[in-house]
Amino acid sequence: MYAYREMVDWPAGRKHWLSGSATSATFKEKHVLKMIETTPSLNELIEQAGELLRLQFGTEPTWMGIAPGRVNLIGEHTDYNQGWVLPIAIDLYTVLVAAPGTVPNTIRVFSASLGEQAILPLAGGDGRHPLIWMRYVEGVITEYRNLGVMCKEMDIVAVSSLPMGGGLSSSAALALATAHLIEAATAQTMTSEERIAVSVSAERGYAGVPCGIMDQTVVELGRAEHALLLDCQDEIFSHVPCLGSHISMLVIHSGVTHSLASGAYAARRGECELAATKLGLSSLRFLEPDHINALGDHPVLMKRARHVMTENRRVHAMVTALRSGDKHCAGALLSESHESLRDDFAVSCDSVDRLVALAQAEEGVLGARMTGGGFGGCVIVLVRSEVVDAAAKAICRRYTEYAGKPTQCFTVDAVAGARKMNTSV
Ligand code: GLA
Repeated sequence: MYAYREMVDWPAGRKHWLSGSATSATFKEKHVLKMIETTPSLNELIEQAGELLRLQFGTEPTWMGIAPGRVNLIGEHTDYNQGWVLPIAIDLYTVLVAAPGTVPNTIRVFSASLGEQAILPLAGGDGRHPLIWMRYVEGVITEYRNLGVMCKEMDIVAVSSLPMGGGLSSSAALALATAHLIEAATAQTMTSEERIAVSVSAERGYAGVPCGIMDQTVVELGRAEHALLLDCQDEIFSHVPCLGSHISMLVIHSGVTHSLASGAYAARRGECELAATKLGLSSLRFLEPDHINALGDHPVLMKRARHVMTENRRVHAMVTALRSGDKHCAGALLSESHESLRDDFAVSCDSVDRLVALAQAEEGVLGARMTGGGFGGCVIVLVRSEVVDAAAKAICRRYTEYAGKPTQCFTVDAVAGARKMNTSV
């Protein structure tokens, strides 16, 4: 059971949530699918946040920042190589509600997911808040202050339907929700570019992850029923329609949580930069097949570069597949991407590989791959909608059998990006 579900007695929502349960080594079939639950809708999350604000701080909600998570359809580890990505903002959200603060010179934030309350002096912290999740909030508040937008005292409650460390950009959602909340509270409006830049700075400078720009950009600029095609060098984007209601997107958590700050992500980024330097390229965006051969003396760099070159091509091929409604091509591209991430870029792990293989073997599944930074987290599965429930149950049951622990499975839809509200909830 995940913490945020224990903390709050969520009301029923409309999303599927399949949860397996393996209670011991003597795993029994009847325990596999203990329940089929639902995750809260956005309105329900907002209500919950308001109730918690009253309970925790005794104040009425005044301002709100909302941000969705994201799943990356394709284009993994290409953003910091100045390439192309195709992520989707999804209907799992982080919601921040706030009221004028009751403690002088202080911002207080209660995280319902973690059951923790953090305190930030209004004058700013040292950029190294002891609670890691709070560094995103601290980073955004400080960067806004640097832009001349000064927060007053606030009491804030954060609720989320996003699994943390699941590779669905719960951190980018927290950063962008904070940005919109600050704007609601200060009655100032920044541009999307400014919000994205501030949120990227919070992740890089405060949380210590040398990330690209994909997550923050799609969390801010997502559109309902569309994926976001982003050129990470020129920072140009367009929206590409998703496949339509006959194809569903499943997101299944491997149960392995990842921390991109732990160094492996930075190591991959370093290898890519080294490969570009050896080839005399400003970035791996400009790779051609001859470049890969030229890295023959550096087998590891050769594999990393090959992933980036082929993944960029897959992004463009996926755009073509989406535009022409070619679901089989879209599915095949997902599965090819996973092979490349596993074998050439080495960012998968046994559990994720197993989950992907189980999904790919299931009736009605068009393709599956890991999504996000890797080293655990979630997989994305494209599946024919008429069999989505059966496929989800079968994959979760088999994976739970393998992993010996519960898993989470969501059906996700493409939604609009982050926003603010002056509110009473
Ligand atoms: C993380 C980073 C992104 C991107 C992905 C991998 O999500 O935050 O910038 O690099 O990993 O595609």
